[in-house]
Amino acid sequence: MKILVVGGGGREHAIAWRLAQDAERHDIYCAPGNAGTAAVATNVAVGAEDVAGVVAWARAHNPDLVVVGPEAPLVKGLVDALLSIGVPTFGPVAAGARLEGSKRFAKEVMDAAGVPTGRAETFTDAAAAKAALPAFGLPVVIKADGLAAGKGVVVAETAEQAEAAIDDMLVANKFGAAGAEVLIEEFLHGEECSILAMVDGERAVLLPSSQDHKRVFDGDRGPNTGGMGAYSPAPVVTDDKLPLIKEKIILPVVRELKRRGIVYRGILYAGLMVNDAGSHPRGPRAKSGSTVNVVEFNARFGDPETEAVLPRLGGSFATALLHAATGCLADADIVVRPEAAATVIVASGGYPGSYAKGKAITGLDKVTDATVFHCGTQATDAGLVTAGGRVLSVTGLGADLRTAVDRAYAGVAQISFDGMFYRRDIAHRAFARG
Ligand code: AMP
Ligand code: GLY
Repeated sequence: MKILVVGGGGREHAIAWRLAQDAERHDIYCAPGNAGTAAVATNVAVGAEDVAGVVAWARAHNPDLVVVGPEAPLVKGLVDALLSIGVPTFGPVAAGARLEGSKRFAKEVMDAAGVPTGRAETFTDAAAAKAALPAFGLPVVIKADGLAAGKGVVVAETAEQAEAAIDDMLVANKFGAAGAEVLIEEFLHGEECSILAMVDGERAVLLPSSQDHKRVFDGDRGPNTGGMGAYSPAPVVTDDKLPLIKEKIILPVVRELKRRGIVYRGILYAGLMVNDAGSHPRGPRAKSGSTVNVVEFNARFGDPETEAVLPRLGGSFATALLHAATGCLADADIVVRPEAAATVIVASGGYPGSYAKGKAITGLDKVTDATVFHCGTQATDAGLVTAGGRVLSVTGLGADLRTAVDRAYAGVAQISFDGMFYRRDIAHRAFARG
């Protein structure tokens, strides 16, 4: 198949890499790709958000499939544009991507579909929002409605923090239009995990569970990031929860969207909070009464979850993506390998705040037992240099999670650049279970 992957981060490198592992050979392109995707695909000089540019490329090259990685082009309607010229495309149309692009819309859909999630109310007026705060107790979560690059969520421990967050969004317009509406949401206790479901408009197949590490420092301290590492499977997602997740969360959302005239195809990523006897930490039960509640939906593969989940998939990945994109997905399309996977993000000093770029990266050729995905790198005449906050994503596979983690860290130990840092406790929640 001729396949275009849209995007240029670790997730897209993992998608292109996994396509290149298929038994059948594909002709893989990446727009714009990065220094890593160049090894498994042909990079195309078109930006991921350049809808007209991607459509023009597709018209000229007639791909069998386009796979859209990041949320921004989904929300901008890239999939709608490609479908309108007859190109099979993996990813939801813009109306479906609103599940990620508008937290209020996601709540509306969940409420209509009876999906367990935190109780929430929406406000455009700061005084009204503050007046509603006491009913939510503490901690309480304040969220900007729109896309805010992962920074639009404040978990407030005190009423003062909550009021300051409301003022930032509604009065100071810190997030622009994305923060013109805010949600106040019930704080959910428990342990988070990620479920990526492959969806074809009607059917869904769950990919293996995973867990992200959002905080920048060991022990889940410091500010939130795009994700500092992931592993799969996540033992908090015990097998008995899978039917609940599929039947009470994923499928009702897909059906509710369809009822609204939206055929959702692509990945439906559910960020879930699990609160039962096995979760760490535990806490009071959510108002919904459910042990599994939706924290958020994303309309795409997670990053770095993808770098841990895709290496665990067997079979033909291209076929699975094409079947989802064309409405004929079957359980048999997803084959899960028994190995565990762990991914460590190697980041630039200062991330998620400001950081330097252009630092020479060495040692990648010495990584033998792990796969390195490029997140923010650039190939220059002088060699590979850093070009982002998250620079590399190093994935180990192993018969068990300990082996996978050890292989990932052995890979990381070979790599060096000025200012590099990484978390040393990836998968700690899984190991805490003993
Ligand atoms: P989101 O952008 O919605 O994923 O939120 C970012 C992070 O904030 C999540 O990964 C959670 O760690 C935290 N968070 C969001 N909503 C809640 C909630 N209702 N209860 C507890 N933590 C939350
Ligand atoms: N890993 C979190 C995300 O992709 O949004």
